[in-house]
Amino acid sequence: MNTSENPPIPFNDFTREPEELIAKELEAVESVLRSGWWVLGKEVELFESKWANYCSTLSAVGVANGLDAIEIGLRSLGVGPGDEVITTSLTAFATCLAILRTGATPVFADIDPETGCIEQQSIHRCINSSTKAILVVHLYGRAVDMENIINLTSNLGIFLVEDCAQSHGAKYNGKPVGSIGDFGAWSFYPTKNLGAVGDAGAITSNNQELILKAKMLRNYGQSDRYYHPIIGMNSRLDELQASLLNVRLEYLNLWTNRRRSIAKRYWAEISNPEIKLLQQPTEDENHVHHLFVIYTKKRRDLQNQLSKMNISSLIHYPIACHLQSALKEAKLDPNGLNNTKDHCENCLSLPIQPYLTDLELDRIIDVCNNQL
Ligand SMILES: Cc1ncc(COP(=O)(O)O)c(C=O)c1O
Repeated sequence: MNTSENPPIPFNDFTREPEELIAKELEAVESVLRSGWWVLGKEVELFESKWANYCSTLSAVGVANGLDAIEIGLRSLGVGPGDEVITTSLTAFATCLAILRTGATPVFADIDPETGCIEQQSIHRCINSSTKAILVVHLYGRAVDMENIINLTSNLGIFLVEDCAQSHGAKYNGKPVGSIGDFGAWSFYPTKNLGAVGDAGAITSNNQELILKAKMLRNYGQSDRYYHPIIGMNSRLDELQASLLNVRLEYLNLWTNRRRSIAKRYWAEISNPEIKLLQQPTEDENHVHHLFVIYTKKRRDLQNQLSKMNISSLIHYPIACHLQSALKEAKLDPNGLNNTKDHCENCLSLPIQPYLTDLELDRIIDVCNNQL
């Protein structure tokens, strides 16, 4: 392979971010350093209010990462030992780990193979008297079709929780994800659509009681200084990350638009009977394209061809949560998780980061169409 003809196309590349953004970030960092206040301060408060506003919720609570956001949100709702939480097995293991850390049991429903998201009939098969919540994951950036799930949770009197770690800015029926259920949990890990320069997370909600409890839980269960009415943890967001998020948030819509235009080209131009694309969203607002995932029985061949042309690709996810050896025993849909298994065996994620160039996109599409 000639690298000068085929320069590497990385999956993510933060060095491509514009000078203008870096200059604003350096200014923000300097201002925090000079402020002399580094954990849970004005920058965190500003980010919490900006993020709540972006998500159309009453409030947001900044925490250390997305895993903690889910755990703290669930614990704020009182989910714990003896409870079951229905979720998808096709997600980052953190989703499942957060449920386990509350003491509750994850119960895995199957996915809709057209979208990769949790499937409604399968949810029904997982419900029993111990079900305390349904935790949907807006996977790959796609807002889950929520109508039936909203009706189901309200009829059963159970909680509806959203893992929004991959879906910053996606909307369902005009409502931002993270504002639909009892709370939304966010990760700002660097590779997310809105990423910090390290770990960060948040919880969004319209429930003020939940917000107050989450604020206590993130800070040792403290109500007032040195008073601890509940058992909490240390999951505070620091001022540096919050100040960078305040700057980077200004770019989120721009980045989302670029992701959407890349996805549109993939949908319009990938044409190969060996490759199946996931369902296109009905409305642009439904999807923010955190990942562009395709399905092919020839995954290994395609990944090899891409790699020969210096193009990175990844698999989300090679092993579903219920098959991870950390789980000694997993509770599942009694009909099994056949769609999840099939997807994990055949899915492949193509680069879709916002600084991918049109020429790079041409090269990726060319491999998909002509080299498999
Ligand atoms: C769907 C999903 N949930 C939760 C998380 C956990 O977020 P974090 O890495 O910030 O703990 C991630 C991140 O990988 C994710 O993709």
